[in-house]
Amino acid sequence: MTEPLNDPLTPYGNRPMVTPIVHAVNYEYRDFEVLRKITDGEIDGYTYHRDDNPTVRAVEKQIAALEGGEDCIVCTSGMAACTLVYLTYLKTGDHLILFHDTYGAHYKVSLILERLGVEVTWLGADEAGALDRHVKPNTAMVFVETPTNPMCKIIDIAAARRAADRSGAMLIVDNTFATPYHQHPLEHGAHLVVHSATKALGGHNDLMAGAVVGAKGDYDKLWFTRQAIGCTLDAYSASLLERGLKTFPLRAERMAASAQMLADWLNVHPRVSRLQYPGLYGSPGYAAALRQMRNGFGGMMAFDVGSTPEDAKRFVSALRVIVHAVSLGATESLICVPYLTTMLYLPPERRTSFGVAQNTVRLSIGIEPVEQLMQDLEQALRSTQE
Ligand SMILES: Cc1ncc(COP(=O)(O)O)c(C=O)c1O
Repeated sequence: MTEPLNDPLTPYGNRPMVTPIVHAVNYEYRDFEVLRKITDGEIDGYTYHRDDNPTVRAVEKQIAALEGGEDCIVCTSGMAACTLVYLTYLKTGDHLILFHDTYGAHYKVSLILERLGVEVTWLGADEAGALDRHVKPNTAMVFVETPTNPMCKIIDIAAARRAADRSGAMLIVDNTFATPYHQHPLEHGAHLVVHSATKALGGHNDLMAGAVVGAKGDYDKLWFTRQAIGCTLDAYSASLLERGLKTFPLRAERMAASAQMLADWLNVHPRVSRLQYPGLYGSPGYAAALRQMRNGFGGMMAFDVGSTPEDAKRFVSALRVIVHAVSLGATESLICVPYLTTMLYLPPERRTSFGVAQNTVRLSIGIEPVEQLMQDLEQALRSTQE
């Protein structure tokens, strides 16, 4: 008979199939030497939730594996993950390059960074090919989303890295739209990958989380910032995220297959114009998307409905299956008018400066049967003609 292990959860090594939710905020110290080793990072162990938590650590390892990175740090939201990156790697006098076609809250964070003495340049996604012209000796970071939010344009990650290398800048890629099922930015030259794990990684509209994936040295630096400012994820959300990850590849596969079919159909629909989907054959980003994406092109698309803001509102209100809500990557298909939602943070002149029109909608495809989605889109598009 095997000797019992000194572990109340697995006395005979029968591992629980789900990582236990450890709610404890603090841990009993059994030995001063063990405490010193944990604090000095010589051994793995837990002392206080703001530092680390076993449920959170388990999900970090799973996300690192999904992205092909050495390690991952998980925190309370996607924006917390982006801010961790900014605070860890930028200092006064540094230059940061951002793209207009990026989740709107970056604009708010950029105002804080400017107050701290960081110089910020905003570029259009269509200027990404000339990125090197905007890199200066003090450029310390280039931050891109690809596909972009909300217009679903493609930025060539390898080319962005070549431009960033001119000043030794870090290239950060937000992989929320693509997901690790379709894109591994680290393989194409990104130094770090960030995620709003609130989206497809969690996948069920029931948790908020963010993640940063990179090398072991980056984990240590980011851990220091997270521990200092205290945006460690709670154990319950980490457990929900782990549950989401179990079905993530299946969901991602289904979403991309449905999105490709719907994009090809909508692209020739008379009530739809300017449809942007990375998998649209021959579209401007298609060649780069083929190089850096795989297993399809994800579940996100953007398009204009009719010709007026009222057309878009009537269309969205007429949908019965697809839900009018922000966020994305969920089991349910979600649609929003970015001009009136995710772009609300921006000053009015910036809201339309990079291609978002008042009748542009952003559609996140879920896992419903594709015929149901097509019927819903068709009846709602018809309603815009009335
Ligand atoms: C691409 C992208 N990155 C980051 C974020 C921020 O994530 P969170 O809402 O989890 O803070 C969002 C939110 O919509 C997003 O769409």
